[in-house]
Amino acid sequence: MRPPRGRGGGGGGFRGRSDGGRGRGRGGGGGGGGGGGRGFDKGGAMRGRGGGRGGRGGGRGRGGGRGGMKGGSKVIVEPHRHEGVFIAKGKEDAIITKNLVPGEAVYNEKRISLQNEDGTKVEYRIWNPFRSKLAAAILGGIDEIWIKPGARVLYLGAASGTTVSHVSDIVGPSGVVYAVEFSHRSGRDLVNMAKKRTNVIPIIEDARHPSKYRMLVGMVDVIFSDVAQPDQARILALNASYFLKAGGHFVISIKANCIDSTQPAVAVFQSEVNKLKQDQFKPFEQVTLEPYERDHACVVGGYRIPKKSKPSA
Ligand SMILES: C[S@@+](CC[C@H](N)C(=O)[O-])C[C@H]1O[C@@H](n2cnc3c(N)ncnc32)[C@H](O)[C@@H]1O
Repeated sequence: MRPPRGRGGGGGGFRGRSDGGRGRGRGGGGGGGGGGGRGFDKGGAMRGRGGGRGGRGGGRGRGGGRGGMKGGSKVIVEPHRHEGVFIAKGKEDAIITKNLVPGEAVYNEKRISLQNEDGTKVEYRIWNPFRSKLAAAILGGIDEIWIKPGARVLYLGAASGTTVSHVSDIVGPSGVVYAVEFSHRSGRDLVNMAKKRTNVIPIIEDARHPSKYRMLVGMVDVIFSDVAQPDQARILALNASYFLKAGGHFVISIKANCIDSTQPAVAVFQSEVNKLKQDQFKPFEQVTLEPYERDHACVVGGYRIPKKSKPSA
């Protein structure tokens, strides 16, 4: 696995990337992005400006920040390096996703409505890294999230659907998000959200028992896991054995003190990574979620990655 990023070798730190800047290779722990010290305010808007351009896909637009960026300022939307994620550049920058259900907010998040050059309208939702570990990992500079338009995603620990809704925006109408949550209270909101987001299949079950929902879930490209449980590595492995295709990918958020509050966070992250390795996962990269979450890391990797065949002599 690539060495963790960030401060003091302590498991990867926030590097202040908001941009979609490219050109970072694997294997290096270094930057490539400018903008150290940039961050979000609690409302989800990035402070400061800068950064390189995004890469593929998406259009650009200009428009008033209705319901969104401060003071109705002009906003430019650019694609982020991660396909399906965008950057709103205005007085304050923010990462955003294209709203699958224009006109609807999910958790009272701000929205930005823009008119394209061809006169069509498009709406984006601001993605708050204080409310979403996946957003925090993106801003922490994670290289790949594997969640992209058309992807089939199994999401464990969906809660009331805050991050699920952004994943639903990213995968779009041709993708699907199977969202598992065992709390009936949170599950109510999740089910209500899914009534409008037809690519979200809510599943109110315990993720420790995937056999109970095996009839509902197809094979998936990616599992995102955020259950915050001491046995989360086992929960991920169990679900992967049922649903994750060989060569698929996982993204797991690790909350150190849910696993062992007596150990330093870095040691806990390492021990979780070791557990994953024993279950046919191959961790590729790790970032911490500071400054948005304390003592959390996000680990991303592959599953049952076929061994490279040796070139014949
Ligand atoms: C940290 S919260 C998830 C937040 C959510 N991912 C988001 O970004 O909006 C963890 C969630 O996992 C759920 N959870 C914990 N253990 C679970 C299990 N065994 N099966 C299903 N859900 C579980 C909890 O009820 C809680 O809602």
